[in-house]
Amino acid sequence: MTKTGKKTLRILFISAEADPFIKVGGLGDVAYALPKALHEMIPGELDSYELDIRIAIPCHAMVCQKTLNSIPVANFVIPHTSGDIPVKVFQTQTNDIPVYFFSGAPVIPSDSPVYSGDNKVDGQKYFFFSLAVLEFARQINWQPDILHANDWHTAVAVYKLSEMRQDDPFYKNCHSILTIHNLPYMGTGSESELEGFGISPTESEALPEWARNLPLPMGLLTADQIVAVSPTYATEILTPEFGCGLQSFLKTRESTVSGIINGIDQSLWNPETDEALPTRYTTNFLDLRRINKEALFKEFEFNNSLDIPLIALISRLDPQKGVDIAIEALRQISDLPWVAILLGTGYSKLEEDARKLSAEFPNQVRAAIKFDVKLSRRIYGGADMLMMPSRYEPCGLAQMIAMRYGCIPIARATGGLKDSIVNYSEDDSNGTGFLFKNPIGSDLAGSLTHALSVYEDKTAWKSLQLRAMQQDFSWKKPALSYANLYLNFVNS
Ligand code: GLC
Repeated sequence: MTKTGKKTLRILFISAEADPFIKVGGLGDVAYALPKALHEMIPGELDSYELDIRIAIPCHAMVCQKTLNSIPVANFVIPHTSGDIPVKVFQTQTNDIPVYFFSGAPVIPSDSPVYSGDNKVDGQKYFFFSLAVLEFARQINWQPDILHANDWHTAVAVYKLSEMRQDDPFYKNCHSILTIHNLPYMGTGSESELEGFGISPTESEALPEWARNLPLPMGLLTADQIVAVSPTYATEILTPEFGCGLQSFLKTRESTVSGIINGIDQSLWNPETDEALPTRYTTNFLDLRRINKEALFKEFEFNNSLDIPLIALISRLDPQKGVDIAIEALRQISDLPWVAILLGTGYSKLEEDARKLSAEFPNQVRAAIKFDVKLSRRIYGGADMLMMPSRYEPCGLAQMIAMRYGCIPIARATGGLKDSIVNYSEDDSNGTGFLFKNPIGSDLAGSLTHALSVYEDKTAWKSLQLRAMQQDFSWKKPALSYANLYLNFVNS
C-alpha cells in the first residue's frame, strides 16, 4: 500500500535495448515509450493500483559511455559451469523511471554491438543478462508482480521464471508477459550456451522438436501471456505464412495470445516542434510543408518542378522490408512523373541495388545509403509518399510517423500496417494511405499509380493528408491495454 491508499503493481520491464540509452530498431523505441506511457497513466485509470515500472537493459559498450553518472546498486554472481560470473548493476532514471544497466564479462565492454550477428556470442550475453535481472530483483528485495520480456533476447528470463515459480517464494506470484516484436528471430545459434547457465531445453511436446532448445519458443511455451505488437500480427503468426513453423504450437496457446499495437511518442515525432525541419507546420498551415519539399529538392539536386510527387523509402535495407519490391515497382512505373529518395543501410546487395536504380534513373532517383535520423525527419516532413512494401511487419513505426507528418504511406496490407492505415482505395472519405495485397513489385506499382493519380487532385490529396495527420497514434490506448493485462493477472 502507498500513502495514497493505493496498491502498488511492480513491473520489471526487460529488453535488449531502450532509447535514449541505446536504440538499434523499433524495440528500442517501444522500451522507451511504453514504460513512459504506463508511468504517466492518470491515477483512476487503474482502479486501485499504482504502477511501479522499472527497466532493465544490458550495459552495452555505448550505454556505459553515456551513463557515467549512474550509481552502482548491486554486485553479485551468476553461476556458470566455467565459473561464477560477477555482475555489476548501475542505476539511473529516465522520465522518473528507474533504469538498471547490467554489466559483466558476457556483456563485452568495448566495441560490442547490441546484436553481433553471432548468436553464440549474443546468447551468452542475453542469457547472462536475463538470469542476472531475475537475481537482481531478489538482491534489492523488490518483488515484481509482472515480468515483461521482449523478443528472444530476454525470453529465457520468462522460461527460468516458470521454473523458479514452482518452489521459490520470492517469485511464486510473479506473472510473465512476452511481447513478440519479430517472430522469425528465435535465437537460433545460441542453443549451445544454455547449458553453461544451467538452463535445460524443454521436453514439452507442445513445441516442435527443433524449437525445444531455442530461447524464443521456450519463452513462448512458458509465458503467461503472449503479446504480438499488432492485432493483425497476432492472427498472422497462427498461419503457415507468418508462423515460422510455430503456427501449430501457437494455435495451442491461442487463448493467451493477444495483439496490442504500438504507439509512437507523439512529443518526439511532431512536425510542429521538430527542430530537424527547415519549416515546422501544423494541420492549419499545411502549405508550409512545401518549403521542406523544396529544401529536399535542393539538397538532392532535383531540377524538377515542385509539383512532381516525391516518393520516399526510409528503412533498414532488409528483405523483410521489401526493399527489392520497392526498387522493382519504381522501375515498372519509371515513365510516370515522380522523383524518389531511398534512405537507409543494410544488406549490401540491397544497398547496391538502390545505387544501381539511381544510376539508371539519374533524374528521378537518389540513394542515400546511410543511417541519418535528422535526414529521415526532413524526408517525413517534405516527401509526399512513403513506401512500406514489407513482406511481414509486426507493427512498423515509420507509417505512423509518416502519417503524423502528412506523408502518405503506401504499404502492404500486413501486420501493424494493416491495423494503422485505412486504405483509400476502399474508402476515399476515411482513407489515410494506400494498401496493397501481395508483396510483389506489380502490386506496389499499382498502388503507387493510384496514389499518383489521386495526388493530381489537390483537394483530395490535402484532405487525405489532414486525415492522416489527425490519427491518434499515441501510446495512451496501447499502454492501457498492457496495464489491463497486468491487472488481470493480479486480480485473477
Ligand atoms: C520489430 C518489428 C517492427 C516493430 C518493432 C517494434 O522491429 O519488425 O514491425 O514495429 O519491432 O515492436
